[in-house]
Amino acid sequence: MGPPLPLLVVALAGCLHPVRSCIICEPSVVTELKNLETDYLPEHLPPEAQKDVMKRVEDAVQDFKKLPIDDETYMGAVDEPTLHKASWSFLTDLKRIMDTGVKGELLVKELFWMLHQQKESFARLSAQFLREFYCPNKCGLMLQTLIWCNACEKQVHACRKSKDCGERQVEIYEMEDMVLDCELNWHRASQGLTDYSFYRVWENKTESLVSKGKEPTLAKPMVGPEDEGTYRCELGTVKKSPATIMHFHVKVLPKKIEGETQLANTTAPADGAPDETTIVLEQPSPDKTLKRHLIWLLISGVALVTVGIGAV
Ligand SMILES: *[C@@H]1O[C@H](CO)[C@@H](O)[C@H](O)[C@H]1NC(C)=O
Ligand SMILES: *[C@@H]1O[C@H](CO)[C@@H](O)[C@H](O)[C@H]1NC(C)=O
Repeated sequence: MGPPLPLLVVALAGCLHPVRSCIICEPSVVTELKNLETDYLPEHLPPEAQKDVMKRVEDAVQDFKKLPIDDETYMGAVDEPTLHKASWSFLTDLKRIMDTGVKGELLVKELFWMLHQQKESFARLSAQFLREFYCPNKCGLMLQTLIWCNACEKQVHACRKSKDCGERQVEIYEMEDMVLDCELNWHRASQGLTDYSFYRVWENKTESLVSKGKEPTLAKPMVGPEDEGTYRCELGTVKKSPATIMHFHVKVLPKKIEGETQLANTTAPADGAPDETTIVLEQPSPDKTLKRHLIWLLISGVALVTVGIGAV
């Protein structure tokens, strides 16, 4: 049982220029088509159907490659996840056909229909790639590996946008922990990234390096007034240009919760001794603590939230 499949395989593998379905770039697809050719077809297709089948499969494959190149659906290249998705879809369909043990004319029809479906599926995935995953960075430089479908060639593609990824205003209370986060969501999908460097930018425009490493954040516990100022983060790449530059303007506010620790200490009946606030209460009761809180609220004007937390 010969030719239809060899033809299919050859057509898929070799004759799809200038635009060919990328899925043939996946070795698993090539392997599975070989299996179809050598294992399945000889058992399921009569020799006399060959010529007709050959022609029809040829047409179907011709149709498969007629995916027009444009800005919105297909650019001749996709990323690896898209290629995996498309190949998986194709292989699943092919396996489904072979699992049914379908023969003869019906087999040809199913293969033909499947190729048609898969062409549409690939077009959809390719359009989705262009919409959602192609150069998703709004700023900076992202390096993305693409597979060019014509030659099954992998290339690193540079998505260049405006260099500066903007300024962040950060307000933080004294004695709290400061965390400056330089990570943008496309960083994880980018190739060729090196380190995040954080610099302190002084008034006189000079900079000093504060930290450098794979961590996208700069953390400083218990900030003081001396930490107020401008910081710059730079994420490096293997290329000359950095992937991302971001500025942080940090303002350190006066200590927020002076009263909170006092309140907590006051209400903790460590030694059971009454303090002056309990004197105004008529008798000790289970909600004594709450009442004391309320009095403290009136006295010190501490936020209601604190009372709730303290009373628990
Ligand atoms: C700039 O200011 C920083 C911090 O005030 C200081 O350490 C540094 O020496 C200054 N550099 C120059 C060139 O004036
Ligand atoms: C609150 O109590 C803790 C221990 O219970 C103590 O270390 C701390 O100094 C107290 N703070 C104030 C403001 O009294």
